[in-house]
Amino acid sequence: MTLSDMIRTRFSVNTFDRTRQVPPDDIIALLDTAVWAPNHRNTEPWRFILLTDEARALYIETRRRMAVESSPAQDEHSQNLAGDGMVKKLGGVPSFLIIAMRNSPKPDVREEDYAATSALIQNFLLLAHEAGLGAVWKTWKDDPRLRALARLENDETVVGVLHVGYPAEDAPARSRVAARERFTHITGQ
Ligand SMILES: Cc1cc2nc3c(=O)[nH]c(=O)nc-3n(C[C@H](O)[C@H](O)[C@H](O)COP(=O)(O)O)c2cc1C
Repeated sequence: MTLSDMIRTRFSVNTFDRTRQVPPDDIIALLDTAVWAPNHRNTEPWRFILLTDEARALYIETRRRMAVESSPAQDEHSQNLAGDGMVKKLGGVPSFLIIAMRNSPKPDVREEDYAATSALIQNFLLLAHEAGLGAVWKTWKDDPRLRALARLENDETVVGVLHVGYPAEDAPARSRVAARERFTHITGQ
């Protein structure tokens, strides 16, 4: 497949083969290529935290508690159902790969670093796809319990938590608006 094919056939994978775990060394190998993302001033602001086994279970349990706590329901039964829903959602995820970055004290550098880390994540998603793995980029829920579990430093921001595993099925294809429809070509004043 060409790079163009890889980009066009990468879709978020949410259903994983529960019997298989991606070896951490394989994930590190993909990250070792993903780090060739552009990053202004060569700050290389990123750091990677992989949660498997007991840490994975604790992540899911913490997310369950958070879902119970944030449930708008008034009664305990409904709140617990929200927690069960979260366990169902995350229970099939073999590993969680947290992509963090160090916060620069300078807001403009911080913004560049966030963009650079996002470029790294897209690199990783494409490389995972090329390797026959499945992955999806999820928004991090910033909670002290999750930060402690991931051993994050106070000056680190999580750019994404990736669910990574072997896909159980083909990911659903999504469409895109053609770039031409968002394109402006300016040639004069
Ligand atoms: C910054 C960012 C945050 C995302 N957060 C979530 C998320 O929290 N939950 C989720 O299901 N998908 C999340 N996604 C994945 C997008 O929903 C997904 O990429 C989009 O639906 C397009 O689908 P595709 O990746 O299959 O092309 C996120 C994507 C990005 C770039």
